[in-house]
Amino acid sequence: MNKGREIARGKTKVLYEAPGQPDFLIVESTDAITSGDGARRDEIPGKGRLAAQTTARVFRLLNLCGLPTHYITGGEDDDDNEMRVRRANMIPLEVVVRGVAAGSFAKRNPGAQKGALLVPRVVEFFVKDDANHDPQISPDGIIGQGIASPQEVAAMSELARLTFEILAHAWRKRDVLLVDLKLEFGRLAGGENNGQLVIADVIDNDAWRIWPQGREELMLDKQMYRNLETVDADGLARVKGAYEQVAELTGAFPVMRPGMVAVIADGPENIENANAVINQLGAFGLPTVRHVASAARTPGFVLQLVAQLEATFARSVANRHGVGVPSQLHDHGATRRRVLDVPRVAPPSPLPHIDPPLPIDDSDGGCDTPPDAFDTLNRPWTRQDPAIYIDQDRDVISDSGTELYSFYRRRGITTVLFMGVHANMCILGRSFAIKAMARAVCAMTARTHPYCSTPR
Ligand code: C5P
Repeated sequence: MNKGREIARGKTKVLYEAPGQPDFLIVESTDAITSGDGARRDEIPGKGRLAAQTTARVFRLLNLCGLPTHYITGGEDDDDNEMRVRRANMIPLEVVVRGVAAGSFAKRNPGAQKGALLVPRVVEFFVKDDANHDPQISPDGIIGQGIASPQEVAAMSELARLTFEILAHAWRKRDVLLVDLKLEFGRLAGGENNGQLVIADVIDNDAWRIWPQGREELMLDKQMYRNLETVDADGLARVKGAYEQVAELTGAFPVMRPGMVAVIADGPENIENANAVINQLGAFGLPTVRHVASAARTPGFVLQLVAQLEATFARSVANRHGVGVPSQLHDHGATRRRVLDVPRVAPPSPLPHIDPPLPIDDSDGGCDTPPDAFDTLNRPWTRQDPAIYIDQDRDVISDSGTELYSFYRRRGITTVLFMGVHANMCILGRSFAIKAMARAVCAMTARTHPYCSTPR
């Protein structure tokens, strides 16, 4: 990643400025591994890459579940062990959630048998202070010392518990018991939602205890390194093997899948509408995730959500309004070339169907735009809402069903969601639009959908 000045260095990571983006940072995971507050320190070549992958996969899952995190993108093989995050002012606390008694909890609570399930989960706070071995602090102590407000302490406890449950569930599916977990929080520094509490730092294999089959002796986390009596090449190789296994296992954590639709409600007042959309999509068998964010009031945050989810729902395929001169489409350069470069594929033969009587008068040929409006409208659509901007690097513009069908086929796009399209006669008459989508639904569901049994 393109990165700027180094601004901070921790035991296992380095923070850089993101050039030209004051609200963002680049976090690089290094090959270092430490324990005992830095008393033991080694390098495991390749650990930085595994740590970046693990933390990115964990944060992606948390973002998918709607938890506020600082993670935007990166962490995979070709990202130089770096991820792009929102800049946050860190709260100097380590928040530990425990589902099973182990580690310092078992030592501090001799009555709690090691390995005992903890219900409800225990949330503990520690002050970040290596020199004093991160002393524990109570919620009242945090508030009394002005480290965080009562609301923030409550939010941190709740978000930490939710994070634990989400990750415990993901691990349980892989027959691994999540024992405990350490999180850190920050307040967004600048940009939209400035000051909002977010899950920050990293969540990698150093930050939890995980026991496959619930058996401590099969542990795969950093405790293996802490337990080494003497650090030798063999021991470090075993630790690295575990980190590799963990990065691979987290690679199967849930992410947005092709065909999954993210529905963003434009404020709480629109949740009901969003739910109606979600129900309809559910009827077509499409899984959804729902978020509430206003594209008008916080466009940056909506774009951030899109990036965090790696969702493609906001990628736009614009249809030119009205009749016009096709050459005007060439104004769109890359977005036009991208679709023209795709070899044409013959569209499937239409299923037999009967058009119902049209609900409006189409004697004007199907377009009700007054001729004198063409002076202003007879231009390709360029932008509408900041969240549905045209991305020169990814989007395509076309007014041809064959072009779009070929593009979808080439890219493996199987789900097309038409949004915000004014479904007037200009659209209804086009082969790639609503009728084509209806045919696709009937084909996909082998005509079992109720929609297909009525003649269209
Ligand atoms: O040592 P203790 O039992 O308190 O650790 C609880 C959890 O927090 C463990 O998963 C441990 O890996 C993690 N932890 C951490 N960084 C620390 C202290 C603990 O990631 N400085």
